[in-house]
Amino acid sequence: MANYLDRIITKYRNIQGNAIPILQELQEKEGYLSEASLRYISEKTNIPAAELFGIATFYSMFRLKPQGRHLIRTCNGTACHVSGADTLAAAIRTHLNLRETENTTDDGRFTLLEVACLGCCSLAPVVMIDDTTYGKLSAEKIIRILNTYD
Ligand code: FES
Repeated sequence: MANYLDRIITKYRNIQGNAIPILQELQEKEGYLSEASLRYISEKTNIPAAELFGIATFYSMFRLKPQGRHLIRTCNGTACHVSGADTLAAAIRTHLNLRETENTTDDGRFTLLEVACLGCCSLAPVVMIDDTTYGKLSAEKIIRILNTYD
């Protein structure tokens, strides 16, 4: 296994509640949480694998697959929330066939991430795909937009 795994484990060895910082650092290093690395960390730390996988699937900041070619950021800030962000996010999930606990499509095309505010509240509801911001969206509009990405 990679040396950086042992360095991360050593860094947090004696810290109470170390699972989340270990997973954060691992994701920063690998770009996602690979099953092999989670199992290695479990063996070396005695944190049960089920607990690590539970944390990794509970928090939307963690990814169990490499990030997709396109990153979709859906805003769930107040302005977007009251303008239908939940409906938009649900439509994206359905269209991309993403289960509740997944945020990267099986074909590696998209990764979906919820964010608090994209800084353009007057355009609510807002979605950002890679570096492009789309505002005043409806479910139909965002699906048309998603279909333009390969
Ligand atoms: S709340 Fe969505 S852009 Fe600010």
